[in-house]
Amino acid sequence: MKTKILKINPKQLDKSAIKEAGEILQQGGLVAIPTETVYGLGANALDQEGAKKTYQVKGRPSDNPLIIHIAKLEDLEKIIIKRPSEVDLLAKAFWPGPLTMIMEKSSLVPYEITGGQESVAVRMPAHKVAQAIIEAAGGFVTAPSANTSGRPSPTTAAHVKEDLDGKIEMIVDAGKVEIGLESTIIDMTTSPPAILRPGEITREMLEEVIGKVVKGPGTLAEDSKEKPKAPGMKYRHYAPKGKLVIVEGDLGEETLAIQKLVNEKLREKRRVGIIATEETASEYQEGIVKNIGSRSNLSTIAANLYGILREFDREEVEFIYSESIPAWGIGDAIKNRMDKAAGHNYLKAEQVISE
Ligand code: TXA
Ligand code: MG
Repeated sequence: MKTKILKINPKQLDKSAIKEAGEILQQGGLVAIPTETVYGLGANALDQEGAKKTYQVKGRPSDNPLIIHIAKLEDLEKIIIKRPSEVDLLAKAFWPGPLTMIMEKSSLVPYEITGGQESVAVRMPAHKVAQAIIEAAGGFVTAPSANTSGRPSPTTAAHVKEDLDGKIEMIVDAGKVEIGLESTIIDMTTSPPAILRPGEITREMLEEVIGKVVKGPGTLAEDSKEKPKAPGMKYRHYAPKGKLVIVEGDLGEETLAIQKLVNEKLREKRRVGIIATEETASEYQEGIVKNIGSRSNLSTIAANLYGILREFDREEVEFIYSESIPAWGIGDAIKNRMDKAAGHNYLKAEQVISE
């Protein structure tokens, strides 16, 4: 299949381009679409064939459910049966935006997209191009991140092409995404509601609107028979090809420890990368150093994380050492993705230095 790349400017929507993308979706095809979080692999949500193709193209296990994206609040009631008042409060506060809510599904929603579960995940993205394409497609579009399963999510159309060229009908290119990490997922079927995946919308922000919110369950074993309630609980996620290790300590110790680790690997003639920050990047003399963003503006780090992991892949880096990122605000979500990308691999800086 030849994948068509279609550029659309979010500030000046080209109606015929939107229509073209919408028609492909209506006819059962797959279109990668930009959203404010990451690029999504769009399919018509009400067509079970769309789900089948989505799982196949991503190489994703079919018990890992998909998010339905809507463009209008009126459409929500068609796909869910119970609507707690908290849902309306959160929708009012954060939609359109990077928040996904899990609710009880209506019969309109095929089990193919929910991994057989009675619940469905719904999000209304803030991206103008996504909104227009969803409407043109009939209002309900499933969109998992548009990467091959297990790889870092795509934050540019080029990343999507890297993974899915020749496998899908179209990639809509609207430039680099704004946020760079996937939406916050909150399960509204439990009381109190539980965060299954942290994102730009933090627990504090949610609690300000609806009161108590808890952190969802942790990791499921890879061979577990239980259905995963959140990404990365069961499957390895967001991972670069090289071995990523996060070094923890105070910042001065971290940079020293990383330099030491890098030098050891260089002596073994291995390709080594460093994830550094604007504040520290100039301190490293050896290794492939990437400046991920500023410690005083964690949004810059969120926006660059996946792109940098992909760069390391292209450069065939075998070992990557990362400084640890502060966990306030969106830092909690950054930490969550880095933890999974590293397969929970940490080293204590102090210990590295003293060895
Ligand atoms: O920001 C985002 O959410 C992006 C953009 C494209 O919108 N989409 C995204 O989709 O990250 P995906 O499929 O990569 O991650 C959605 C996760 C799934 O991994 C799944 O575990 C969880 O949401 N999920 C979906 N439906 C669920 C359900 N009914 N119950 C529990 N978890 C669910
Ligand atoms: Mg994903």
